[in-house]
Amino acid sequence: MAETVLVERKGRVATLRINRPEALNALNSAVLAEMLEKAAALDADREIGCLIVTGSEKAFAAGADIKEMNEKSNMDMFYDDFFAGWDGFAKLRTPKIAAVAGYALGGGCELAMMCDFIIAADSAKFGQPEIKLGVIPGMGGSQRLARSIGKAKAMDMVLTGRMMDAAEAERCGLVSRIVAADALMDEAMKAAEIIAGYSKPSTMVAKEAVDRAFETSLAEGLHYERRVFFGLFATHDQKEGMSAFAEKRKPDFRHE
Ligand code: HXC
Repeated sequence: MAETVLVERKGRVATLRINRPEALNALNSAVLAEMLEKAAALDADREIGCLIVTGSEKAFAAGADIKEMNEKSNMDMFYDDFFAGWDGFAKLRTPKIAAVAGYALGGGCELAMMCDFIIAADSAKFGQPEIKLGVIPGMGGSQRLARSIGKAKAMDMVLTGRMMDAAEAERCGLVSRIVAADALMDEAMKAAEIIAGYSKPSTMVAKEAVDRAFETSLAEGLHYERRVFFGLFATHDQKEGMSAFAEKRKPDFRHE
């Protein structure tokens, strides 16, 4: 059977490409299983400093696989805890960038939001159209979209099921930057190589600290930030980074 997630390594960056062109990269159980297995292996690899998650020019992913879900009963969904596997992907500790071209709908938009930030091609289209199917977002959309773009826009998207283009997505803060479609992978790779070039413990706790802002009070978040900031003074790379600055040379990070 064809692989539904293709992995390509370049230096300290690994790209995970969803590969179900016949279904606009709809996320079925094969994609979930392969993505989890491959991403977890890369996450555990100290030689990998950043992940890129992407799809095709036409679709990042057009959602969870509707045909696979259609016949399931409430008890099937309940006992399988359908979609819960994706929580494992969201929790990966290595920084991950979603590079989105074309459709990122339903579970596709939710998968992109599980990444640390989204770089969008000018062709990107985001949406949570589940309401049109008689359901609602089930992979975190109602929660992550609201935190990302605020109540008014999130309600608009979730209740009308409309798509938003890349320009609107950037305006409302869903994506960090927009690039021409043919430059998407180069731009994502450049950003990933920059991140992967820094000390891995520092990028891992940097993203944890930002994520903490969405989970806790300001006072707790500030306390947490200070604790992990102090913790980095136990790394080789903090001494190296600061010495290199003072000595006007490039740091030689060992990722420890
Ligand atoms: C299964 C899908 C699919 C999906 C597309 N396909 N999206 N199959 N699940 N989510 C399949 C089509 O059936 C078709 O297969 C092929 O991919 C090409 O799609 P077309 O519709 O022919 O392409 P196009 O006309 O270009 O339209 C593109 C599109 C449309 C606008 C993206 O495909 C679409 O609306 N897709 C569904 C989007 C959606 O509702 N996503 C949310 C899913 S629910 P054939 O065999 O006919 O060629 C979800 C969260 C679930 O993600 C949480 C709640 C439980």
